[in-house]
Amino acid sequence: MKPQQKRSRRPQGTRGPRPVGSSRWSARAAATQALLAVGEGAYGSLALADSLRRGDVADPRERGLATEIVYGVLRWRLRLDAALSPYVKQGLTNLEPVAQELLRIGAYQILFLDRIPSPIAVSATQDAARNVGAGRITGLLNGVLRRVVENGESLPDGDDDFSIAARSSLPEWIVAALRVTYGSEDLAKEAEALKQRAPTTVRPTRARGGARAAQEALEDAGFAVEDGGHGTLAITGPGDPFGISAFYSGLYTPQDPASLAVVEGMSLAPGDRVLNLCAGRGVKTTAMADRGARVLACDLSEGKLADAAKLAKKLDVIEHVRTLPIDATRPPDDLGTFDHVLVDAPCTGLGTLRRHPEIAWRREPSDVGTLAQTQGAMLRAAAAHVAPGGVLTFAVCSFHPDELPDMELEGFSLERHEPPERPSEGVDLFQLKRWRRDG
Ligand SMILES: C[S@@+](CC[C@H](N)C(=O)[O-])C[C@H]1O[C@@H](n2cnc3c(N)ncnc32)[C@H](O)[C@@H]1O
Repeated sequence: MKPQQKRSRRPQGTRGPRPVGSSRWSARAAATQALLAVGEGAYGSLALADSLRRGDVADPRERGLATEIVYGVLRWRLRLDAALSPYVKQGLTNLEPVAQELLRIGAYQILFLDRIPSPIAVSATQDAARNVGAGRITGLLNGVLRRVVENGESLPDGDDDFSIAARSSLPEWIVAALRVTYGSEDLAKEAEALKQRAPTTVRPTRARGGARAAQEALEDAGFAVEDGGHGTLAITGPGDPFGISAFYSGLYTPQDPASLAVVEGMSLAPGDRVLNLCAGRGVKTTAMADRGARVLACDLSEGKLADAAKLAKKLDVIEHVRTLPIDATRPPDDLGTFDHVLVDAPCTGLGTLRRHPEIAWRREPSDVGTLAQTQGAMLRAAAAHVAPGGVLTFAVCSFHPDELPDMELEGFSLERHEPPERPSEGVDLFQLKRWRRDG
């Protein structure tokens, strides 16, 4: 074992939870419910929104604390588990899920939230247990969390994969992939950058007045708006930019700059015919349609395509969008040919770790090989549907070196290869290749 660093915390002030017995959930109770939903497979962002709504958590400070705790626990989960494990005799992961999540919530406050004094962190976590009907485990919480308060956490300080993984709370296989992609220099810095919270960014709808209209509406509602890169706006300020009328009327939609950069990278012209083979819920499809392209949006999931059509309607681009459920590894022969074909392939999503920290422990190293096979099959199938002189774009939101197919496409010339940017640039990460079919 390498030399150890001891972390301690300096308590300052805090607010307590809502009174026990209130029909509303406290911030910590809402966080517990959200984390339980993530444990069952939900996305963190959706689980949190659902929990805040169900628990009727209206106070902005309570909502802020719940948000901080949910993302903090997801982001630092491996490190929290390492700090808790020595004090759970039966093994942390053998405990019932509600006990695991409450222990993580307690440990996160103790180790990461300087403004919450330790005794409050422990007692408020016990209150949350009662608030979610788990009063039976308050003794366990008290015993284990007090040990974490006394002992803090031990972190190795080396530059090997194990030490960087322990400090950055990433699995070692992800640190190893970072090392291959970005090299060893500044590896710890790049791993740390993946733990930062991504800003809230949106794509203004051109069909609804574009950036100016979206910015004015957001500023009128009290938000600060800046350029978010690649045509997005970055929003800060108290409150929820997705809870105001400008959002409901379609002036903007959530999208990260890396996702919009893929659409930018296609260099579309108005009227272009696009086949989007993995359209999902239509984020890129509607961005393309908003630029005047006519898009056939395909996906394996009919439910996602129904959401894509709903989004296209809301953003006033439905005239330019058709949907078709297909398996993109075996598209029907009679699909025809298109000016552009996009394969926005299913991938590990490692490039979006800042927004979806749960990916770090949901994904397995073996997923990369399985996904790479599907990605290769999709790319080969897609090539058959590119018109002469047309463009084939392949993109993944991952920095993993094995997720961008390294294959020759007969009758195509490689026009563009965009490797992923560095996490320390403060952006989500994607890789893209673009080929043109010989005319
Ligand atoms: C990275 S997501 C696409 C995101 C989408 N382009 C957007 O911008 O919102 C990958 C998509 O591939 C879809 N998918 C996975 N396997 C597929 C297959 N064999 N055929 C078609 N779509 C598939 C998934 O349902 C998922 O929606």
